[in-house]
Amino acid sequence: DAGHYDNGGYEHYLLKEISEQPDTVARTLRGRIDDRFHIAHLGGLNMDARETRSFRRVKIIGCGSAYYSGQIGAQLIEELARIPADAEPASEFRYRSPVVEPDTLYVAISQSGETYDTLAAVQELKRKGGRVLGIVNTVGSAIARECDGGVYLHAGPEVSVASTKAFTSTAVAFALLALHLGRVRDMSPADGRRICEGLRRLPEQIKEILTMEEQIRALAIKYAEAPGMMFVGRVRGYPVAREGAQKLKEISYVHAEAYPASELKHGPLALISADLPTVAVVPDDELLDKNLTTLGEIRARHGRILMVGHRTADAADDCVVVPKNENELDPILLTIPLQLFAYHAAVALGRDVDKPRNLAKSVTVE
Ligand code: AGP
Repeated sequence: DAGHYDNGGYEHYLLKEISEQPDTVARTLRGRIDDRFHIAHLGGLNMDARETRSFRRVKIIGCGSAYYSGQIGAQLIEELARIPADAEPASEFRYRSPVVEPDTLYVAISQSGETYDTLAAVQELKRKGGRVLGIVNTVGSAIARECDGGVYLHAGPEVSVASTKAFTSTAVAFALLALHLGRVRDMSPADGRRICEGLRRLPEQIKEILTMEEQIRALAIKYAEAPGMMFVGRVRGYPVAREGAQKLKEISYVHAEAYPASELKHGPLALISADLPTVAVVPDDELLDKNLTTLGEIRARHGRILMVGHRTADAADDCVVVPKNENELDPILLTIPLQLFAYHAAVALGRDVDKPRNLAKSVTVE
């Protein structure tokens, strides 16, 4: 409740929470990285090493932005720990009567810890003997209490309806979980070290991105006039694109669609024209060339392009260049310019930024 919480001199809680991220990410990491053995210490998991090695699959559930952060989490676990992992909206999961497997690790994500669909999914899993971890921000919340163990984000209260710092902290918590799962399985010490060092670089790099706010504000004003926007990304960039579209639509009410870049030609390319600009999330990873080809295809249809990545590209009209981290951790950083973009688009359009119409901070009903 905003009444108990100071906006710290910021015009909106949302901007305060975006700006806090160097600190909130540091808090999620604090005391959890072991630089000697390149492992993660996650005391709240309540799992011994034998159990940690026993899982053959990871299933992640959450709603809205929590679900999108879970998609980043699934990719981190699959890449770093080499365990098949996927994310699904908690409501879909619970309504489709899923097979609950003893060798699957279930992970529920919730900032508030009170989202009804996520809570009900956890209760159903528990009823059927599933092992459920929670990645939760609010200590002692219903979901945290229902889970067998988990990771608290320690991001502090999130007041604005649109989730920002909880999103990045959740992705960081998944990186720690993936490191933990990986290092008791096949992940090499060298890879462990690479990820530990990458995680430690995040707070400073986030600070650097926040200094780009003026540039991003100008871009938001420029693009906010469009009737809608397309967001695209491939693999690591795709959940970032989904979250970017989610932020824009919920606080600015500008229609936004997110697609895997590779899916454009299977349908949505028909929408591309001078009236529908695209935000392209283009990390400098092994898919860079493929992404640049996609930009060329959009450009050939007169689509304007705002690229968020690690370099500039001729095909893009505008580029936001963020600092590079390890490929696996880049989604965390790429998300932040899109938060600022949505924020400034919403301000430019005169929206009620912290309390967007029709939405509640936590959805405690079905
Ligand atoms: C985020 O910007 C949204 N307002 C919403 O999707 C939110 O992430 C979702 O309702 C889940 O909330 P929770 O993390 O508190 O469970």
